[in-house]
Amino acid sequence: MILETMKLMSRDLRLDRALSLGVLALVLWSVRRARALDNGLAVTPTMGWLHWERFLCNVDCQEEPDSCISEQLFMQMADLMVSDGWKDAGYEYLCIDDCWMAPKRDSKGRLQADPKRFPGGIRRLANYVHSKGLKLGLYGDVGNHTCAGFPGSFGYYDIDAKTFADWGVDLLKFDGCYCDSLKHLADGYKYMSLALNRTGRSIVYSCEWPLYMMPFQKPNYTEIRQYCNHWRNFGDIFDSWQSVKSILEWTSSNQENIVDVAGPGGWNDPDMLVIGNFGLSWDQQVTQMALWAIMAAPLLMSNDLRHISPQAKALLQDKDVIVINQDPLGKQGYRLRKEDNFEVWERPLSGLAWAVAMVNLQEIGGPRSHSISIASLGRGVACNPACLITQLLPVKRELGFYDWTSILKTRVNPTGTVLFRLEETSQTIFKKLPLQDADTL
Ligand code: GAL
Repeated sequence: MILETMKLMSRDLRLDRALSLGVLALVLWSVRRARALDNGLAVTPTMGWLHWERFLCNVDCQEEPDSCISEQLFMQMADLMVSDGWKDAGYEYLCIDDCWMAPKRDSKGRLQADPKRFPGGIRRLANYVHSKGLKLGLYGDVGNHTCAGFPGSFGYYDIDAKTFADWGVDLLKFDGCYCDSLKHLADGYKYMSLALNRTGRSIVYSCEWPLYMMPFQKPNYTEIRQYCNHWRNFGDIFDSWQSVKSILEWTSSNQENIVDVAGPGGWNDPDMLVIGNFGLSWDQQVTQMALWAIMAAPLLMSNDLRHISPQAKALLQDKDVIVINQDPLGKQGYRLRKEDNFEVWERPLSGLAWAVAMVNLQEIGGPRSHSISIASLGRGVACNPACLITQLLPVKRELGFYDWTSILKTRVNPTGTVLFRLEETSQTIFKKLPLQDADTL
């Protein structure tokens, strides 16, 4: 009896200590976050559509009228964003990437849209997009040319910021090609941020500053966050598993430097969602959606909303997963462990909830089981003393109540992910329920 009581006491003490240390760690962790660009935007990661990965720099409207970069393409996408539930799901920014410009500035030095492909100019397109309750994103470059060779903004930052604001642009993706020095790169990104602010228009500022800086110098993320609403760290995404995998690997290998800096107003940008295209299997699409939610990534789809499977659409519009991505606490998740070709990622959420993803990176064989002790999740506080676990992906299932001493076991398809949400519960509710393990497939 005495032994039993001692065991119970020591378990309670362990629970209490873990709980208070965990809470303390969370508090310290929050205090460390750096100051964000104070334009009041991107309080949660930006959601929308961006043309690059799917439509690239197709300017041949003679041969390919349906997939060239033209006002028609964006008007069609705007219509579908509203009629097919994308806007209601949260996808708000319709973004034009490179190749919208005419090859030369106008006589007053202003950028102009290609007159054949955008006969009404960007202003008319912005009006159209706004009339649908959406926002318009546009692309520019900090250097002498855009990556595809159109006019860059170097030497024209004020004029360009003013032009974008006059046109009614709501987001600027500012690329870093053809910049001749690191100083010009940093000064240009900062200058444009201030120039956009001076216009008085609310314009989300999406940067590629760290990506272009990285080969030469370690990025100062505290500074980058003060100027940009999101920033690309890594090369362009392709429509392939190899590409998604390399982005995840880069992110986890660099998480010490990039996770803590993310938060309301400033996010790491692992690039577009390629779900609904050609290169990813169903399981790989699930992995991208789940991990972009864990990483608090901007959700900018690059796909053809005119031709998208119901399954990809349901995944991209999954409310529970979007809720994780958009969680108001705004903390980016991280890889907790990697073992036997399994990765476990987790992300703290508001209301003491946690998201947990188990990824099976083995590319041979069938589904494999993986077990993780509940106590190891969420810095020891995710499920302390008990929690309710819901599997969200690949399909939604209530798994029931777990306690701190139990094991979460699941089966994951090769290159697939199982995504869970853990909700705190009170001990009283838990006491009435039996302990359990679950095989979640
Ligand atoms: C790249 C950029 C891509 C796309 C492209 C346009 O540098 O990373 O996302 O914008 O330029 O030319």
